[in-house]
Amino acid sequence: MSTEELKAKLLPPLGKTHKMRYKPEKGHIQIENVSVDFGGDVFAVNDAFLEIMPGEFVCLLGPSGCGKSTLMNTVAGFVNPTYGSVKVDGMVIDKPGQDRGMVFQQHSLFPWKTVCDNVAFGPLMDGKGIDSARSTARSLLEMVGLSAYEKRFPGVLSGGMKQRVGIARALANYPSVLLMDEPFGALDAQTRAMMQENLLQIWEEFGITVIFVTHDIDEAVFLADRVVVMSASPGRLIADIKITLPRPRLAEVVTSEDYIKAKKQCMDLIRLESMRAFEQQRTTA
Ligand SMILES: Nc1ncnc2c1ncn2[C@@H]1O[C@H](COP(=O)(O)OP(=O)(O)OP(=O)(O)O)[C@@H](O)[C@H]1O
Ligand SMILES: [Mg+2]
Repeated sequence: MSTEELKAKLLPPLGKTHKMRYKPEKGHIQIENVSVDFGGDVFAVNDAFLEIMPGEFVCLLGPSGCGKSTLMNTVAGFVNPTYGSVKVDGMVIDKPGQDRGMVFQQHSLFPWKTVCDNVAFGPLMDGKGIDSARSTARSLLEMVGLSAYEKRFPGVLSGGMKQRVGIARALANYPSVLLMDEPFGALDAQTRAMMQENLLQIWEEFGITVIFVTHDIDEAVFLADRVVVMSASPGRLIADIKITLPRPRLAEVVTSEDYIKAKKQCMDLIRLESMRAFEQQRTTA
């Protein structure tokens, strides 16, 4: 079987089974002068200002401990800003909501529920009947290429499969924003590459706004419309790099001149900030 045939098999064509929003109108994020103080010497996030338009794919890149997860958690509603505000579609965020789906680095599936019922959980909690919830779950599982596993339990899945179930679950209430905190961080390089392509297919199909936290510059440049770079602690947003590579992005794009240029720009910024972060963590607790 050729690589193209294998890919076609693993990444099923989209567009038949689920709701589509080709022209995204929702998922407008406004992070306005947000600072987060956890009570230490420095702010975890320092005066962040970021506007993300409906349907944009934004990667958040920065050294360890700079405040990426904290900033994302203010959009998720898990952390309330000490100063400033976060709005999604004009509504101030102060708690989690169904308009925002979340995928974490480590899967957070219920081990006692089948794959299908893990994905159906959100719609069920939203008051849908079990048949309708499972039907939604099945179409999302088809989208992530896991239909054959709907009756299995998470314990028998590989890491990549679990993350795909996690993505299906985060999409099950059709959120307008998908928040992903290093979702592919624990996966091997090949699985990761497949997951990235699958995610881009889903994103293009759904027209959903994505904030994607990563340490991986290649991943950020391959996926994003914009790469937003955070400084070492106290985390400030120091660069917003527009990635104009054509879409759909194919694996070959990584050899293009524009890709290499964007990657170098990110690398130069990150190297400096990572050195600063390392030095800070060496000298202060
Ligand atoms: N709940 C919390 N209480 C107190 N301090 C916290 C809390 N969450 C995060 N911090 C601190 O805030 C700072 C930013 O942490 P955060 O997890 O946002 O960084 P990060 O950029 O996501 O790091 P990594 O790349 O390692 O995941 C760190 O100094 C961390 O110790
Ligand atoms: Mg983090």
